[in-house]
Amino acid sequence: MKVAIGSDHAGYDVKEEVLKKLSCEGHEVKDFGTHSHESVDYPDIAHEVAEAVASGDCDRGVLICGTGIGMSIAANKVRGVRAALCHDDFTARMAREHNDANILAVGTRTTATYGIMRMVDIFLSTEFAGGRHANRVSKIEKP
Ligand code: RB5
Repeated sequence: MKVAIGSDHAGYDVKEEVLKKLSCEGHEVKDFGTHSHESVDYPDIAHEVAEAVASGDCDRGVLICGTGIGMSIAANKVRGVRAALCHDDFTARMAREHNDANILAVGTRTTATYGIMRMVDIFLSTEFAGGRHANRVSKIEKP
């Protein structure tokens, strides 16, 4: 799977770990930064990852900041993006099964690295359930 990944300074260390893990597993990972602990503005990264997913260049995205909140809000401004802020296995699975989320947003200040790794696994391996959820998801784009 082709995965777009990005973080701000608060998510940098974990982003590097997720990047290594996904590359080792054979995913093609496109890294949109940031590339150090220097302070950056999360919307700049979120929008780049969101565009990569919305355009079809990448299949899924992973965004990491302190809480995941800013990243998810910013990514969801891009049409076609369904970014889900998740906190555990259950929300990561539901984001895929029920919402067909295409970007996972997580926070390093709210969730331990181990939990984030598990959510990334679940998010990338869980299929959309379709059925009654398909109509609901299609309504998201047509308010
Ligand atoms: C950075 O301090 C922090 O605001 C950011 O990582 C994120 O949590 C925003 O939602």
